[in-house]
Amino acid sequence: AQPLRVALAGLGTVGAGVIALIDANRDLIARRAGRPIEIVAVSARDRARDRGVDLTRFAWLDDTRALGQRDDVDVVVELIGGADGPALTLAREALGQGKHFVTANKAMIAHHGLALAAEAERLQRAFKYEAAVAGGIPVIKGLREGAAANALTRVYGILNGTCNYILSTMESEGADFAAVLAEAQRLGYAEADPGFDIDGVDAAHKLSILASLAFGSRLDFEAVAITGIRQIIAADIAQAQALGYRVRLVGIAETSPEGSSTAGLFQRVHPCLVPLHHPLAHVAGSLNAVVAEGNFVGRLLFEGRGAGAGPTASAVVADLIDIARGELGPAFAMPVAALEAQPPAPAGER
Ligand code: NDP
Ligand code: HSE
Repeated sequence: AQPLRVALAGLGTVGAGVIALIDANRDLIARRAGRPIEIVAVSARDRARDRGVDLTRFAWLDDTRALGQRDDVDVVVELIGGADGPALTLAREALGQGKHFVTANKAMIAHHGLALAAEAERLQRAFKYEAAVAGGIPVIKGLREGAAANALTRVYGILNGTCNYILSTMESEGADFAAVLAEAQRLGYAEADPGFDIDGVDAAHKLSILASLAFGSRLDFEAVAITGIRQIIAADIAQAQALGYRVRLVGIAETSPEGSSTAGLFQRVHPCLVPLHHPLAHVAGSLNAVVAEGNFVGRLLFEGRGAGAGPTASAVVADLIDIARGELGPAFAMPVAALEAQPPAPAGER
C-alpha cells in the first residue's frame, strides 16, 4: 500500500516525540492505518541541535513554509506553536497546496481554527488537532463523535498540565511556585512562553475549542473570562486543604436555558476550590481531566496525561492514522458553513 507521506514542522518536545513514537510503533501503526506512515521531510530553527532522534533519514528544510510545497508530501504536521507567525503561514500554505494538515497548536485554533477548517473543507482536505486539547486524552473525538447524539449542557475540567503540576506539587511537597514551574518547563509541559500557562490563557484556548465541539457553537475565545494561578500562594493551598478542598485551575463552559435571565454560553477559566469527593480533586501532576454532561449519556469523564512528549505525540499520530484510513473530517461539530449559520451565543459574563 502507498505510504502516507508526512512533513514535520517543529522538532521540540512534541515533534521529537512524534518521530520517536513512529519509530517505536511503526509496524503496529501500519497495520492499524492500513498503510505505513513515513516522515519524509522536517524543519525547525536550528539544524545542529541534538533532539535525541535520528534526522539524517529525512530531508531538512530551512524554510518551514516550503514543507507545504513539496510534491512528495501528503500531510503537513505543525508543531511550532504560536497563534500567528510561521505556524499560521505554514497552515495556509499547506492547505492551499492541497495537503492535509495536523496540528497541536491550540492558540492557532482558538484564533484561526474556523477559517482554516473552512479552507480544508473547501479543498476536501483534513484539518485535525486531537493533540491540541488535553494532550493524550482523545477528547476531541470523544465530544465530536462519541457524544454527538447528545445535547450537552456543560463541559468542564482541568485543561493545563503545567498549572496542575504546579498546584498539586505545591500541595504535596510544599514546593515553591517558581521552582515547580521551572521543573514543568524542564519536563516539556510548559508553553514556550509559560505566561500562557500560568495566566490561564492556554486553558482558555482549549476551553473555547471544547465549547464549540460540545455545543455546536461558533468558537469564541474572546468570550472566555480568564483568571490564572499567578496569585496563588502556599497559604491558599494549605487553607483550602484544612477546609477539605484542593485548589485546581478549572475551565468551565455551560449553557443556560433560552428565556432564562442568564441565557447564553458561559465560558470561564479560574482557580477553583474542588471538594475532595469530586473526581477533579484527584487529578494530580500533569494529568488533565474533562467532564461532559449529556442528556442521554449522563456524565462522561475523560482523564489522562495532558502534556509532555509521549501523550501529545500519541494524539498527533492518531490523527495521522485517521488520515491514512481516509477519515478526513469534519474538524468541528458540523461543517463550518453550518456552524457559522448558527446565531452567535449571547455573550456570557466576563
Ligand atoms: P517546543 O518549544 O519544544 O518546540 C517548538 C519547535 O518549533 C522547535 O523545534 C523549534 O525549533 C521550532 N520553531 C520555533 N520557531 C520556529 C520558526 N520560526 N520556524 C521554524 N521552526 C520553529 O514546543 P512543543 O513541542 O512543546 O510544542 C509544540 C506545539 O505543540 C505548540 O503549539 C504547543 O502548544 C503544542 N502542545 C505542546 C504540548 C506539550 O506538552 N509540550 C502538549 C500539547 C500541545 P528549534 O528546536 O530549532 O528551536
Ligand atoms: N502547556 C500545555 C500544558 C501543554 O501545560 O497543558 C499541553 O497542551
